[in-house]
Amino acid sequence: MPAIVLVGAQWGDEGKGKATDLLGSRVDAVVKFNGGNNAGHTIVVGAEKYALHLLPSGILTPGCIPVIGNGVVVDLGVLFEEIDALEARGVDTSKLVVSGSAHVITPYNRTLDKVTERFLGSSKIGTTGRGIGPTYADKMSRTGIRVQDLFDEDLLRAKVSGALNLKNQVLVKIYNRRAFVVDEVVGELLGYAQRLRPMVADTALLLDQMLSDGRTVVLEAGQATLLDVDHGTYPFVTSSNATAGGACTGSGIAPTRISRVIAVVKAYTTRVGEGPFPTELFDEAGERLRDVGAEFGTTTGRPRRCGWFDAPIARYATRINGVTDFVLTKLDVLTGLEQVPVCVAYEVDGVRCDELPMTQTEFARAKPIYEMFPGWEEDISKARALEDLPRTARDYVSTLEAMINAPISAVGVGPGRDETIAISDLLD
Ligand code: GDP
Ligand code: IMO
Ligand code: MG
Repeated sequence: MPAIVLVGAQWGDEGKGKATDLLGSRVDAVVKFNGGNNAGHTIVVGAEKYALHLLPSGILTPGCIPVIGNGVVVDLGVLFEEIDALEARGVDTSKLVVSGSAHVITPYNRTLDKVTERFLGSSKIGTTGRGIGPTYADKMSRTGIRVQDLFDEDLLRAKVSGALNLKNQVLVKIYNRRAFVVDEVVGELLGYAQRLRPMVADTALLLDQMLSDGRTVVLEAGQATLLDVDHGTYPFVTSSNATAGGACTGSGIAPTRISRVIAVVKAYTTRVGEGPFPTELFDEAGERLRDVGAEFGTTTGRPRRCGWFDAPIARYATRINGVTDFVLTKLDVLTGLEQVPVCVAYEVDGVRCDELPMTQTEFARAKPIYEMFPGWEEDISKARALEDLPRTARDYVSTLEAMINAPISAVGVGPGRDETIAISDLLD
């Protein structure tokens, strides 16, 4: 079985964690390929609820190998906290493998993330404050600290010292913060080395061998298409490639190995942090989506901005990721609406636009053109087949499917593992 990519189609929090978990025990490895503990994936198994940040969702599937790929940025303190919290709840984390080439989020980059945001004031990105942007910036500037550096103390000290030469100047002289001490930073990082060592491997090689042996590998994105640093609503994005292309560079798996790209899309839209959002609601309809959908950030607890389904965005996700299947989530949240508006295109400066406009200047001015679809009153959370849905809910699903240029293969009707309508097998 070749590799399968799973991405978010909108601005994150579509339910990627639940979707990965759904693929279940037939998956041999789940690889996180981008991002870090800015992600928050909620998975509900029976009465148990898990919030994962850095660990791949496959950690909850017995027998599955969870892999942190080279494209991830790792906060080692958070990694061990998450492992310990899961172990305390009886989850076996012993199979976890971490790429030696993944970059490490250092204490100074956590601080820089927070102070630069404060400095930006009203122009801020609204980051999660976890040090993600500065760590990827160091990676690209070739001054980053990698997991493998923790096993070469001289190299680590030289790299931290080199990085702090510049960063301490910035922290002290521009942001009026205290300087970091090289020995303290090195000491903190080395403190993790012994526990980390047995988890570290050449993950690209390991995954290649698994694929050659016919095993199933899922490449799971953090964040989502419109938060991708190249294809998202730049600069209001994260600092990694969250789209399907990033799955290859972030894991070392070649594009020719990938047979399927699953995109998770919510039946409406949410966004956390700043940036344009054409279908955003500022009235009680938005508050209703937030309340009923429990739209509060898994990582920062911030209320998520809410709006109606945006078809041009989903079509864009299909094109950029080469989506073969959609998982439509949170259909149940729309229950009780008399009519459900769907954005079918935009109007930009008086001109109809069926695709995302080329520039962010135009996108910031895009006004949604809505079509209204009839709603439904019935509780749909017990539906397990399309036929169990009321006619209008089924029509809503097929209407979206016709607009987004790829089949909907599963529909979420609740947060639980079993609260799903399976339409076609995502792994066959
Ligand atoms: P992720 O970051 O894409 O993994 O998504 P999050 O976990 O941050 O946010 C999705 C939220 O929706 C979580 O609280 C899930 O438990 C919940 N969820 C996922 N699918 C469904 C669904 O079909 N219906 C409902 N009501 N909740 C869902
Ligand atoms: P999951 O994987 C939603 C947003 C932040 C901010 C921007 C940049 O749970 O879908 P960063 O800290 O990455 O530099 O912040 O990206 N953001 C997310 N929004 N879900 C996420 O992850 C996010 N990860 C980052 O709110 O606007
Ligand atoms: Mg999330």
